[in-house]
Amino acid sequence: MNDPIPIINLEAQYKRLKPEIMAVVDEVFESRAFIQGKYVRQFENEFCDALGVSYGAGCANGTAALILALNALGISEGDEVITVAHTFVATAEAICQCGAKPVFVDIDPDTYTIDPEAVESAITKKTRAIIPVHIYGAPCDMDSILDMARQKNIAVIEDCAQAHLATYKGKCVGGLGDAGTFSFYPGKNLGAFGDAGLVTTNNDETASLIHKLLDHGRVSKHKHDIIGYNFRMDGVQAAILTVKLHYLEEYNSARRANAALYDNRLRESGFKVIEPTQDSEPVYHLYIVEVSNRDEVAECLKSNQIGYGVHYPIPLHLQPAFKDLGYRPGDLPVTEAAAGRVLSLPMCPELTEDQVERVCDHFLEIAEPL
Ligand SMILES: Cc1ncc(COP(=O)(O)O)c(C=O)c1O
Repeated sequence: MNDPIPIINLEAQYKRLKPEIMAVVDEVFESRAFIQGKYVRQFENEFCDALGVSYGAGCANGTAALILALNALGISEGDEVITVAHTFVATAEAICQCGAKPVFVDIDPDTYTIDPEAVESAITKKTRAIIPVHIYGAPCDMDSILDMARQKNIAVIEDCAQAHLATYKGKCVGGLGDAGTFSFYPGKNLGAFGDAGLVTTNNDETASLIHKLLDHGRVSKHKHDIIGYNFRMDGVQAAILTVKLHYLEEYNSARRANAALYDNRLRESGFKVIEPTQDSEPVYHLYIVEVSNRDEVAECLKSNQIGYGVHYPIPLHLQPAFKDLGYRPGDLPVTEAAAGRVLSLPMCPELTEDQVERVCDHFLEIAEPL
């Protein structure tokens, strides 16, 4: 029997970086900069430099990052925020936590990202923001979204939780809209050893407001001039993320190389995979393929000890949590079709060429294209 192939291999990544990581963890413990402090500032600066964006505010996680960005851009009760249902629940959860209403629109069938035409039809007088999600690490068609938003004075918050250093027209996502939000959940392209997140922006006032909001609305030790949150980042997470940031380009290149191998094998057998937005460079947080017989394929992969996932089987407009919004099956046909067919294959920088070939061999034994 061959060795198992996990969907991601955090163990291999840790083994390689262990000496560097343990050294910085010790440094943080010795300095006792446990919350915020110099390690968080250093990470914010280095991450912003890598992205080419002016300001970054490290925070507790990617969901907190979305809530902070929405708050800082003034989104509240009675506002509508347009986004996709083909995403992780946090994107829409954050909108609801700000008192606003998510308005779900369909995705483009090729890129799996927000369909700009659907956005245009969904804009009303109450629309205050759009959240394009760079799902799977694949950038959205940002020019179309930004043009529309600027004409109508609508804020754009990029959900970059899956897209660290992905580019659109040569610029990193997260610096294109009014704000960008990142998650450093352990399995992400840049993953912490716990929860962590960050908000990016090129606007200094938005940045200051976010820094204030994430630390109890504090302006000085005992003075709070707005109601905020405790959404601060830990020093340990920041120090570990700074170490791992130095490997991010290398990791993303390895992901792209693996994606190219998958693309070749699967496309030539007639399978539908991501067709990236024009002028974009995805970072393949996940590698997805559409199949008509997902359960059978999953069974086959499992019996051959190959990891897989489904991102995401139930679109948000059909989740019980959002039932009050009144959506019905059939409202978002492209999203619903994708939800029924997408399968995520193993994808991580540590995956070898032989492993990709083995995954493809087993997949192609049984999988049926559309
Ligand atoms: C698209 C998307 N948005 C937001 C989040 C939320 O990030 P976190 O889990 O760090 O709160 C995630 C994380 O899985 C995500 O994939």
